[in-house]
Amino acid sequence: MADNPTDLSGDDREKRIAELKAKMQASAKKTKVQEAAPAAKTNVKAVAATAVEDKAAPAPAVVQPSSEVSVAPKSASNGAASNGAAAAMALAGAATVTAAPFFIEDSPEVKARKDMTRREFLTYAWGGALGLLALQSGVGLFFFMMPRFKAGEFGGVFFIGPESSLPSTDAPPDPNTSGKFWLVNTVDEGPKALYMVCTHLGCLYKWEQANNRFECPCHGSKFTREGLYIEGPAPRSLDTFIVTVIEGGEVAVDTGKKELGAPSSESPARVIPA
Ligand code: FES
Repeated sequence: MADNPTDLSGDDREKRIAELKAKMQASAKKTKVQEAAPAAKTNVKAVAATAVEDKAAPAPAVVQPSSEVSVAPKSASNGAASNGAAAAMALAGAATVTAAPFFIEDSPEVKARKDMTRREFLTYAWGGALGLLALQSGVGLFFFMMPRFKAGEFGGVFFIGPESSLPSTDAPPDPNTSGKFWLVNTVDEGPKALYMVCTHLGCLYKWEQANNRFECPCHGSKFTREGLYIEGPAPRSLDTFIVTVIEGGEVAVDTGKKELGAPSSESPARVIPA
């Protein structure tokens, strides 16, 4: 059989032409397959190189390139060697860009441990604060309930004795230095405890038996035996402590409860200068 179709005629020529076309098409397909195989190899190498590069990168950077790697074979499967190389370069670039930020996120176990620690700290802090508050309240209540001054010391209660032991109504005042008061017994008001401090500027006035009155050595204010203002710069009569007769007939002076004297202008013993 002649190889040249021009040497043939009729049906033989047509057959020969068809055989040659079939061979050419088969040869073309074979060539495409051979070209596609190196491209796929190139893509695989590129992907492998990217994987190696990503392995050296920090943990978070691995996440994005790995997703890109799964795309690479798709490009290769399209049979275009140039597309595979471009995809490999894109992967390499993406790996380089995404590797820049470095952040290691805590695992759920570590987060849970940290949360537990914080929660425990807050619990202890609240417990401590509440305990301290309760302690302060208890101490405050204790001191509020307890008398601030003991009996027999200034600020507390002084027990004088039974009423029968009081001085007569014309006897001189009896000083009580611990309680800082003069004890006098009066006809109209009964026993009185006069605070020893002058109502002018706080000097200690004295009993002048010769004049039968109290006189202040500082600025000359004078008061009656009952503590009423007579004359001088003092603005009021002498201050007094509350005197009570408790159960059993005993007289008690509470130096923690002071009553201010009446204004000097209201004193019936006041001497009006001429
Ligand atoms: Fe007593 Fe001034 S302090 S008169």
